[in-house]
Amino acid sequence: MSNILGYQGKRVVITGAASGMGQAAAQLLVDVGAEVYALDIAPISVAVTQDIQADMKSVTDLDAAIAELPGDIYALFNCAGVPSPPISAQDAVLINFSGMRYLTDALIPRISEGGAIASIASTAGMGWKPKLAGVREFLALDNSLEAATNWIQAHPESCADGYGFSKQCMIVYTMSMAKDLAAGGIRINCISPSPTDSAFMDKLKGEGQIPDEAIDLFLPSNGRYATAEDMAEPLVYLNSKMARFISGINIPVDYGYCAEVTMGQRDDLFGIA
Ligand SMILES: NC(=O)c1ccc[n+]([C@@H]2O[C@H](COP(=O)([O-])OP(=O)(O)OC[C@H]3O[C@@H](n4cnc5c(N)ncnc54)[C@H](O)[C@@H]3O)[C@@H](O)[C@H]2O)c1
Repeated sequence: MSNILGYQGKRVVITGAASGMGQAAAQLLVDVGAEVYALDIAPISVAVTQDIQADMKSVTDLDAAIAELPGDIYALFNCAGVPSPPISAQDAVLINFSGMRYLTDALIPRISEGGAIASIASTAGMGWKPKLAGVREFLALDNSLEAATNWIQAHPESCADGYGFSKQCMIVYTMSMAKDLAAGGIRINCISPSPTDSAFMDKLKGEGQIPDEAIDLFLPSNGRYATAEDMAEPLVYLNSKMARFISGINIPVDYGYCAEVTMGQRDDLFGIA
């Protein structure tokens, strides 16, 4: 098998590998010869090297996972995430961002030179610029879930849209970490998917609580939902050796949705432009 992506025999860690984009990425990583260590709250069906059950909002679970994971890692994929609604704003921020940050910060010293981190943000986080002051205040806290919880409870206005805030934090964290990581030869990036057909989308829509027409406003002009594979492949590319000079970037994987907003060709519902 060609090793054009550079994953053969490499140890990679991936969260959210039980379903959707994380599952598709885990399968692809197995297919290209990586040794895959997968974390999820749910059982993982991909034939990975090791699967670890962990709740991203539980310090106990995260510490146990960190203790079980290998001491030398090539790449980290942060895919776990939940929609809010129906999940509370606080839990969405803890799962989507704070747990991700706690795990990432713990694993960075284990990532070898030439290694990389790739995470899944969202078009819902693309409006980070007008929210930067609040995001920076939150990121200035230590990375404990306790500090995060206290801040969220003290700033209900910043976290009213818990999902959007969690993804704004992820984008700003990604860009802010690039400088220090570059000094150690490690890259960090994220992608911002447009609406994708997955369990996440089913949960978000609920029993018709959010109608299809509301989600349709955010579909690209090709008129379709992305598949999990549409997102997994750019994510696997970003941590591969083919992307070896790309760092500190958030790539909208949205078939031009954000470009249309920026060019004034459609309504700016997320405050992106
Ligand atoms: N589906 C979309 O339209 C969409 C759009 C933009 C961004 N995203 C983001 O993409 C990522 C992947 O979502 P998906 O669409 O593949 O959905 P999904 O629901 O299929 O996958 C999410 C995974 O995260 C896991 N997970 C959920 N809560 C967890 C917890 N507390 N601890 C550990 N694992 C947990 C789930 O078990 C699942 O395996 C998420 O971060 C989501 O926010 C999704």
